[in-house]
Amino acid sequence: MKKFAIIVFGLLVVAAAATAIYRFNFRKSIPQGVPVEEQVAAILQQNDCLVCHDHQAEKPFYGSLPVVGTRLDGHMRRAARFTDLKTVLSDLENIDEASLAKLDQAVSNGSMPILEYKLIHWGTGFNRAEKSLLAGWVRDVRAKRFSTGLAAERFAHEPVQPLVDSLPTDAAKVALGYKMFHDVRISTDGTVSCADCHILESGGADVPDHRTSEGIAGQFGGVNAPTVYNAVFNVQQFWNGRAATLAEQAAGPPVNPVEMGDQTWDDIVARLRMDRALVREFEALYPEGLTEATVTDAIAEFEKTLLTPRSPFDRYLRGDDTALTANEIEGYLLFKEHDCATCHAGQILGGQSFEYLGIAEDYFAARTPEIALNDDDKGLYGFTGNERDMHRFKTPGLRNVALTPPYLHDGSAATLDQAVKAMMRFQTGADYTQQEVDRIVDFLGTLTGENPHLQPAQ
Ligand code: HEC
Ligand code: HEC
Ligand code: HEC
Repeated sequence: MKKFAIIVFGLLVVAAAATAIYRFNFRKSIPQGVPVEEQVAAILQQNDCLVCHDHQAEKPFYGSLPVVGTRLDGHMRRAARFTDLKTVLSDLENIDEASLAKLDQAVSNGSMPILEYKLIHWGTGFNRAEKSLLAGWVRDVRAKRFSTGLAAERFAHEPVQPLVDSLPTDAAKVALGYKMFHDVRISTDGTVSCADCHILESGGADVPDHRTSEGIAGQFGGVNAPTVYNAVFNVQQFWNGRAATLAEQAAGPPVNPVEMGDQTWDDIVARLRMDRALVREFEALYPEGLTEATVTDAIAEFEKTLLTPRSPFDRYLRGDDTALTANEIEGYLLFKEHDCATCHAGQILGGQSFEYLGIAEDYFAARTPEIALNDDDKGLYGFTGNERDMHRFKTPGLRNVALTPPYLHDGSAATLDQAVKAMMRFQTGADYTQQEVDRIVDFLGTLTGENPHLQPAQ
């Protein structure tokens, strides 16, 4: 047995040396005179990134060995869940903001491939030329596609961007949408409006003691209500992404039996049309008058005004050095160091991707038995039916997060401290200290911005 181990080890060393020589002499070169995307793809391939970051990857030849094979299995599963570079490479020109932030992180901290792999596969890991090409490409893509152009020069390349102050809207439709957002007649029994579960004054989510929301007739749904503030920047709406736009989203709750009632939009429109003044208001703004499409359009128009710019963190990114305390700045640095900004990237620190919950450790196995595994826990899978989407949830944006406890799709984290620790344990799996968590929580507190409707008690 011992002899066998020595032979295997010897073979591995020889193979590693041979690949290293091969790599340095023949393989590793950046193709010239081709589009930059092809150069990026070649660099990732030559550094074996796709060995692990591909949901369909096959294990290398030593992958069937005991111990080594099992460890590699675990790495490959985690890696593909963290970022599936094979899929990213298949459409590199349209890379999403979170995948870009992930690559940015891997390039700048030089952590990839993981050390264990580098030890066997000498020569993997970016060299200087590769690093500078990748870093330049990340900057260009960010500047062209994701930057809001509001950051001070020195923060122009941050994964998190200042929030825009406003979006263009039609003021009359906004006013009508505001009214519909507060109109209880949309619910079957006239008791519930959008504003009951999305309380604008206190953060745009439900009250803190509602782990899940209470709809009509005292019924409770299965997930925690996210905030409507800045929701316009989500790539898709709902934890499982089942609505593509805000208007499509707004069509859902009114006909959800638990939320606003077992009814059809025809019922709702007929009920609202009894109000002649309301009908006239719609007719003045929409040629087709009061319909499902125009009610939801007005609500969506109103929601575009629910931005919360000018938070202390925005002022900091825009160049005001006094906007944050030393602890809060340290918290932001830790937020980046701990990979948080790879998923929570962009102007709302999230909302851009659907991420596997439980990359580092099985989240659902560890959850309190009080919350039984249920259909909502399937996440994106519940909407797409695609096996790879199981337990993937939309990364929530983190703006105003201090105002919207409890946290996570199941509302299982009562405080920010708990939510951050859950992320450290289940998403990144890194070691951390209580002090680091405290600093990150300090930082998250700086994301509370301004909106005329928002009046948090402080
Ligand atoms: C042996 C498997 C393996 C290889 C090869 C590998 N990775 Fe990873 N990668 C992982 C694992 C495991 C994680 C999950 C986080 C962790 O455990 O550190 C990860 C995480 C990441 C992340 C998430 C953010 C971060 O940096 O922590 C990125 C991006 C990434 N890898 C990019 C790459 C790139 C680029 C390459 C090629 C240079 C590469 N990886 C090669 C296993 C691998
Ligand atoms: C009974 C409480 C309740 C009512 C009433 C309600 N919502 Fe929600 N809202 C929720 C919950 C819970 C979710 C999350 C559901 C999910 O993801 O499956 C949600 C999700 C949303 C989202 C998606 C946010 C995101 O980050 O994905 C928006 C936008 C939204 N609601 C707006 C509205 C509007 C507009 C109305 C009125 C037409 C409304 N809600 C009525 C509880 C409610
Ligand atoms: C791999 C992607 C990923 C990484 C890395 C990540 N998160 Fe998250 N985060 C998510 C997802 C997905 C959720 C929603 C989980 C759910 O549905 O229960 C979430 C939820 C949260 C929430 C709760 C927000 C709410 O409104 O419910 C906070 C706070 C948070 N993350 C902070 C962090 C911090 C701090 C870090 C770094 C230690 C981090 N995240 C790292 C993907 C990620």
